[in-house]
Amino acid sequence: MYNIENDIEKILVSEAELKAICDDLAAKLTEEYGESGRDLILVCILKGSIMFASEVFKRLRFPCAIEFMKVSSYGAGTNTSGFIQVHLDLKRDVKDADVVILEDIVDSGRTLEKLSHLLANRGAHSVKCCTLLDKPERRQVNFNADYVGKAVPDVFVVGFGLDYDEKYRNLPYVGVLKPSVYQQ
Ligand code: PRP
Repeated sequence: MYNIENDIEKILVSEAELKAICDDLAAKLTEEYGESGRDLILVCILKGSIMFASEVFKRLRFPCAIEFMKVSSYGAGTNTSGFIQVHLDLKRDVKDADVVILEDIVDSGRTLEKLSHLLANRGAHSVKCCTLLDKPERRQVNFNADYVGKAVPDVFVVGFGLDYDEKYRNLPYVGVLKPSVYQQ
């Protein structure tokens, strides 16, 4: 059997650390939204956020909903022009609700920068962004997530939802991919 773990150079965020990060982020969300009295809608961005979103969601003990979106952002350079393409949209109205977008990683920052504007324009009471990983060195636009699990260096990360060519999402940790895998 071809074991995808053989393609991992090293583990960057272990299962134990992921658990601690999700505990911490869920506690912060509970502190901010647990007694707000407003609807809270968590928005899981497909596909990379599936594991992270489910881990955070299952730790919350106050009423909240989860919805799913699939988007792509386009645009080059350091300006904020460009657009976001929505491949799969929310099934419910976010008007007057608090929205927390759950992302696996912030890279250039374009996806979350544009998506948070899009949801704010739909009348959400508030829109905040919660990311498992952040690659600040890669930023192309002026965007910072409100909640960050862990900042990581500019290396090729896979696992816990993150892919290379649709593979490695099923690894239970975040690992660094061996360069030989994507350089061949
Ligand atoms: C990745 C990631 C974010 C986005 C971050 O998604 O999940 O959504 O890119 O990049 P940015 O900060 O440069 O905008 P991707 O398009 O690879 O889709 P996937 O989640 O389905 O793998």
